[in-house]
Amino acid sequence: MRRIALVNQKGGCGKTTIAINLASCLAEKGEKVLLIDLDPQGHSALGLGFKPQQSNKSLYEVLLGEIPIEEAIQNLRENLDILHSDVVLSAFEQVMAGIEGREFKLLQCLKPIQNDYKFVIIDSPPCVGLLTFNGLMASSEILIPVDPSTFSLNGLDQLLETIRIIEKKVKHRLPIKIVANNIDLRTNFCRKMLERLQEDFPSNCLKSFVNSCTALRDAASIGKPIIDYDRQCNAFRDFQNLTQEIIKSPDATAVAANAYATFSDTEEMLDPSTKGVVFSIEAPEDATVQIAGDFNNWIPESLFQNDLHGKSVWHKAIALKPGAYAYKYLLNGNWISDPANKNTVDDHRGGENSLIRI
Ligand SMILES: Nc1ncnc2c1ncn2[C@@H]1O[C@H](COP(=O)(O)OP(=O)(O)OP(=O)(O)O)[C@@H](O)[C@H]1O
Ligand SMILES: [Mg+2]
Repeated sequence: MRRIALVNQKGGCGKTTIAINLASCLAEKGEKVLLIDLDPQGHSALGLGFKPQQSNKSLYEVLLGEIPIEEAIQNLRENLDILHSDVVLSAFEQVMAGIEGREFKLLQCLKPIQNDYKFVIIDSPPCVGLLTFNGLMASSEILIPVDPSTFSLNGLDQLLETIRIIEKKVKHRLPIKIVANNIDLRTNFCRKMLERLQEDFPSNCLKSFVNSCTALRDAASIGKPIIDYDRQCNAFRDFQNLTQEIIKSPDATAVAANAYATFSDTEEMLDPSTKGVVFSIEAPEDATVQIAGDFNNWIPESLFQNDLHGKSVWHKAIALKPGAYAYKYLLNGNWISDPANKNTVDDHRGGENSLIRI
């Protein structure tokens, strides 16, 4: 089972676009594929038309050992399954704080299905936190999308350094492939960037690259891979080439196999009563929204904005053990209690805090 993690801490460089289209192309070519979304933004599922509310069994419950992986896997089309995520996955880092072996949770979860798929494609969030570490630890190969910007090139060295550290932990080499994305060959910058990638990383940089193509964006916005949207566009051809190049590249699974042997016996030390709770509030897209409460010593933490059914909703998942917690939102610098929660408690300053009981 070839396990390919798409990784880059830079946001918007094309991790999800490549994950969903590579997975779909591989499946169309007859390879059995599982797409795993390690990003609480849940974009992989959305980009393939799977709505997270279709199933309440997600990667989060699997990683916490609450359900077996087979229960959360959903079929999307012939040869293509998905293990989706949603915002609650952002509590994973907190829930796992201090737990030994927390970087190997995904690797452990994959063990029961290791003979069921030819490819596992892992989409990662745009940061090198515990979730991305889990993706790297569970992978046998790494695919780094790089988009045309100075920041992308500068971030590459840092990312390669992180991967070298991980190699020491998993005790095997992780073949790294770099794929240029969003390329417009009419621009000097893009042509130069391709040249530089080939010169600086001759053994890592793939020959295939993905052109800048609006059809990719349009296809994802209606939940389709490019193979179902437009078979005449540049991106369709690019993904055919990329898929062929990946299929033909050496399979490093055998080298990575010892990862299971080394880490599969990591002790389960998670407190099962800890739950990821999603706090959410409707507020304008350009607002600054934070939350503070008993659970974070009243040090405000930022929420993430999403469009949900045409509304701008801000949310954050926080890991909470059973108990009662007072909290408030900080909206554009003003403290407000949770409009969606009628339970309140005196804040001893003449006002009220919202109160949540777990
Ligand atoms: N080759 C391309 N041509 C045109 N648009 C693209 C291309 N690749 C990606 N995009 C668009 O750029 C945006 C960001 O891409 P994508 O979501 O795949 O990046 P990402 O690395 O997964 O982002 P994040 O870091 O937030 O997870 C999306 O709107 C996507 O449709
Ligand atoms: Mg993404």
